[in-house]
Amino acid sequence: MQTPKSSDPRSFWESRYLSANVEEVSWYEPVPHLSLALLEIGEAEPSDSVIDIGGGASALAEALTTRGFTDVTVLDASEEALRVAQDRWSAAANVTWRVADLLQWQPDRTWTYWHDRAVFHFLTDPSDRETYRNLLLRSVPIGGVVAIATFAEDGPTMCSGLTVARYSTEQLVAEMGTGFVLISSGRYVHHTPSGAEQPLSWVVLRRAS
Ligand SMILES: C[S@@+](CC[C@H](N)C(=O)[O-])C[C@H]1O[C@@H](n2cnc3c(N)ncnc32)[C@H](O)[C@@H]1O
Repeated sequence: MQTPKSSDPRSFWESRYLSANVEEVSWYEPVPHLSLALLEIGEAEPSDSVIDIGGGASALAEALTTRGFTDVTVLDASEEALRVAQDRWSAAANVTWRVADLLQWQPDRTWTYWHDRAVFHFLTDPSDRETYRNLLLRSVPIGGVVAIATFAEDGPTMCSGLTVARYSTEQLVAEMGTGFVLISSGRYVHHTPSGAEQPLSWVVLRRAS
């Protein structure tokens, strides 16, 4: 039997972060190795604008500002997750933090680099994936880069009690639609804090039309 998806992402994820130590959640990585590798594959430069979709308490924003990126936005459904991320380092005020359900969010600008590690796979409803694609088209200009990592076909079937959709790299490319061309794709095995292995599929795409 499938576990229903979260009907209210803001309250679901806020409770999740309030009840957990961020260094113990399954997706925790002290150094965001995969995310940084994807930025390199997408040839992101410090002059690029970057949005981390569902960035949560990830250390990616800190790693980016440390590398000289000056236009970094992190969006997440959980205010608590962003508070934890911001409390971690003194230059957090240079990052734009947005608390929003991405499915309801109306972006008021664009970014040249879109990053999503382990968020798209929560969208099990086709209409939510359609909303995500429309958001991408509004948020990333032609020439911009999109990096997305999800659980692979042989990855976990659930995360935080929610059913997830699993993808091969080919399926992920197809999900994003014909306006994007593949730069590179691959597989990455994430090691959870408790020592489990979680295979991920990742793609880096350029918006072509
Ligand atoms: C598995 S965690 C990954 C966090 C982060 N990307 C990382 O790699 O550490 C999923 C994140 O997506 C966020 N999220 C899930 N659904 C969301 C939604 N509809 N809108 C905004 N954020 C969402 C959660 O709050 C959580 O921080």
